[in-house]
Amino acid sequence: MKGLILSGGKGTRLYPLTYTRAKQLIPVANKPVLVRVIEAIRDAGITEIGIVIGDTGPEIREAIGNGSQFGVEVTYIEQEAPLGLAHAVKISQDFLGEDRFVMFLGDNVIEGGISPLIADFANHSEWNSQIVLTAVERPEQYGVAKLNSDGQIVRLAEKPKEAPSNLALVGIYMFDHHIFEATNAIDPSFRDELEITDAIQWLIDHGYSVFPHIHRGWWIDTGRPDDMLNANSLVLEELTPQIQGYVDSGSEVDPRVTIERGAEIINSVVRGPTIIGRSARIVNSYIGPFTSIYHNVVVENSEIERSIVLEHSSICDIPARIQDSLIGRYTNVGISALRPKSIKMNLGDHSHLELL
Ligand code: TTP
Repeated sequence: MKGLILSGGKGTRLYPLTYTRAKQLIPVANKPVLVRVIEAIRDAGITEIGIVIGDTGPEIREAIGNGSQFGVEVTYIEQEAPLGLAHAVKISQDFLGEDRFVMFLGDNVIEGGISPLIADFANHSEWNSQIVLTAVERPEQYGVAKLNSDGQIVRLAEKPKEAPSNLALVGIYMFDHHIFEATNAIDPSFRDELEITDAIQWLIDHGYSVFPHIHRGWWIDTGRPDDMLNANSLVLEELTPQIQGYVDSGSEVDPRVTIERGAEIINSVVRGPTIIGRSARIVNSYIGPFTSIYHNVVVENSEIERSIVLEHSSICDIPARIQDSLIGRYTNVGISALRPKSIKMNLGDHSHLELL
């Protein structure tokens, strides 16, 4: 089998972070989501991986390279515009050939990896497709599947007013080469995209078998900032803690904390689950649970919890606790030493600031 990761798209819901950065490279528990996806596919025994890229392609190529650092072989497939998930499959036909493949959205994080579902598909060579479903509370916000009594899928409905079940589609799909008949046959939707749900419905309508795999753990599509924070919390819960940095005798660090190489914790309290990245400095501060501090960040005389701070940023002398925040790269949050004492901001488009 081969793997296909979709890493194009615009990432508009994560502006401003994604003005300057591919959303798939934003780290969750200090590891980019795309790297988590590559590792999940590799751990399921698949090493030939195609990555669909768009405008942020150069940055993705630079971060992932030829894949050898992750033990896989990567082929890049350029998509001229984000014309839909089924369009991404269509343009990948040369890479995929006649092989069965798993397609994984490059911004999705799933508990427990994908080995069981890859094995499920591999053991049923008569299945043309397998999609992953999970029970959700508000199915009307997702693509939803209706199953027959044999457990086979009979219909997919995109954000239905009256959902036929509570089983929503997760961003992981498995196909054989018949999917190209579907992607060549369907027309763009009202939003001008070739929709993967239409392609799967086409398979069903033309007599191909599409089976579900019901996923019982958590799954997060990191499309919005709050999803990113939720994914971060859930992945931090799963981390095996490790202390590789320096903790001084005046600091108190919980057992569920990971401190990476070269990081320093000075006169501070760190409560887990939390990760402090390479060469970060935490001084006279409190780092609360569910926080990921990426590499080369400085936190001084401040308090922060349930947040993600990206590389080379600094948070100094902030009088209130920072919470539920996503702070981009090379960002300085501080207090001015000079008069007039005022709030000074240099925020990108679509930034979001809530003051006390
Ligand atoms: P989406 O989250 O549906 O789209 P997006 O990334 O453009 O985000 P937003 O809605 O915030 O603007 O995409 C899911 C994944 O699939 C994501 O990793 C991007 C990727 N993708 C492609 O590679 N090609 C495409 O044509 C589309 C629509 C998405």
